[in-house]
Amino acid sequence: MTVTTVPTSPIEGQKPGTSGLRKKTAVFMQPHYLENFVQSIWTAIDGVEGKTLVLGGDGRYFGDRAAQVILRMAAASGAAKVIVGQGAILSTPAASHMIRLRGADGGIIMSASHNPGGPKADFGVKYNVANGGPAPESVTARMFEATKTISEYQILEAQDVDLSVIGETTLGDMVVEVVDPVSDYADLMAELFDFDAIRDLFAGGFTLRFDAMHAVTGPYARHILVDTLGAPEDSVVNAVPSPDFGGGHPDPNPIWAKDLMDIMMSPDGPDFGAASDGDGDRNMIVGKGCYVTPSDSLAVLAANAHLAPAYKDGLAGIARSMPTSGAADRVAEALGVTCYETPTGWKFFGNLLDDGRATLCGEESAGTGSNHVREKDGLWAVLLWLNILAVRKVSVAEIMADHWGRYGRNYYSRHDYEGVDSDAANELMDDLRGRLSDLAGTTAAGLTVTAADEFAYDDPVDGSHSAGQGIRVFFEGGARVVFRLSGTGTDGATLRVYLESYETDSGKFDVDPQVQLQKVIQAAGELAGITVRTGRESPDVIT
Ligand code: G1P
Ligand code: ZN
Repeated sequence: MTVTTVPTSPIEGQKPGTSGLRKKTAVFMQPHYLENFVQSIWTAIDGVEGKTLVLGGDGRYFGDRAAQVILRMAAASGAAKVIVGQGAILSTPAASHMIRLRGADGGIIMSASHNPGGPKADFGVKYNVANGGPAPESVTARMFEATKTISEYQILEAQDVDLSVIGETTLGDMVVEVVDPVSDYADLMAELFDFDAIRDLFAGGFTLRFDAMHAVTGPYARHILVDTLGAPEDSVVNAVPSPDFGGGHPDPNPIWAKDLMDIMMSPDGPDFGAASDGDGDRNMIVGKGCYVTPSDSLAVLAANAHLAPAYKDGLAGIARSMPTSGAADRVAEALGVTCYETPTGWKFFGNLLDDGRATLCGEESAGTGSNHVREKDGLWAVLLWLNILAVRKVSVAEIMADHWGRYGRNYYSRHDYEGVDSDAANELMDDLRGRLSDLAGTTAAGLTVTAADEFAYDDPVDGSHSAGQGIRVFFEGGARVVFRLSGTGTDGATLRVYLESYETDSGKFDVDPQVQLQKVIQAAGELAGITVRTGRESPDVIT
């Protein structure tokens, strides 16, 4: 087998975003596009010679082809071994676990997460480092630099590797080990949680609906929830992954998982509902008649984690992304531990987890996880909820009422304006940035601004500094608005407006968040001139 050196030239726009490089599938399928980026990953990590990598993805369209290219490029550059999920499948948390379990040097995950898949939708490539987590900014910056100077890449001329059969083969001098994508991950979950208690819960008639959204979690959820824990067969729906996620949008929120929401809000709905995204790292939690916001879910999990074996000795600390609500902060305070506030994106949690400063982490965008891997983990969150419900023997609604009664309720919502003209979105942010120092003391929609700034983060472990991480405006009474531009979109700009207020009056715990937040929403619109600048009267997606 021969190694071919292919001349190429830099392709513009190969800058990794919040979570790897995400583009339209057709863009990724252009000549040299994937190859240039993969070679740039090798450059950024000082080559792959002698290294062991993990490879897998969420099964979306083009993933099978991309896997073969990545394998041939790894072999051409001298990698010792690549551990691949059967069929090129690995959920993101399972890939993170596999890197850690096998002591691999890193891994490549082929996914665009919750973005739709298919020839007309999105594809993505993300590199994770040896701790199992997404490459930090220092590494992604080197990748981007390499994409700007690349002049050639190396690829092995070879037939496709058969990824359908578990076992070892070789590709040139490189070993390719095809592994079951589910079993190691399932073993880890069994170590963390009290499976006997959850089994008893189902045996007692507790009902569940887990919507895998035609995405990668289907086989994992079926194996763990149905085959291992005894939930009835029909508890896991849309469980067969498809390359275009059944034509759907695999983002577990009340908009895109509306079928599940409708069932959960009906009088004869099941006790517990959950969904996960394209690559299995996000989760949505909903009780019978009771939706749990991701920010609240993090807080509840933190407050109750000690009920699961893995966390019985308590939490070292909690970490949340800045736009996530302050609900977890109140729990951290009660537990006497630190709640770290990080920029958006899981990569910022890695150091805190590695350094033993945080045990649980979460983001308002339906991501929750712990120190068991270095990615957020959808099914893990579902299992921790089930473990807590199995011990406490109350409903989700009761857990929420009890939680708010103790800590108060952080009302929360995110409004997304999608596909906005990029210049208009940047001008909106620039204009706000320019006025930040004058905002304190002014009012908007009758709310008095107490402080305003642009969030920046100094990593307490490695001292790295990340600036420009979202504009925050704080109001009297604990309300807050955050403005940020998405770093994962593939069409124009997405303006995210994060809205929050705090309520301690238990008589006001059952208000529709859009009603409760009305003034904050109005203030956000006024402060940023959203309608004037974007031409939009209302957001495209409200979660
Ligand atoms: C979004 C979420 C962020 C999450 C990321 C990857 O990024 O907001 O919390 O970490 O997806 O799943 P954004 O598009 O806002 O940059
Ligand atoms: Zn995801």
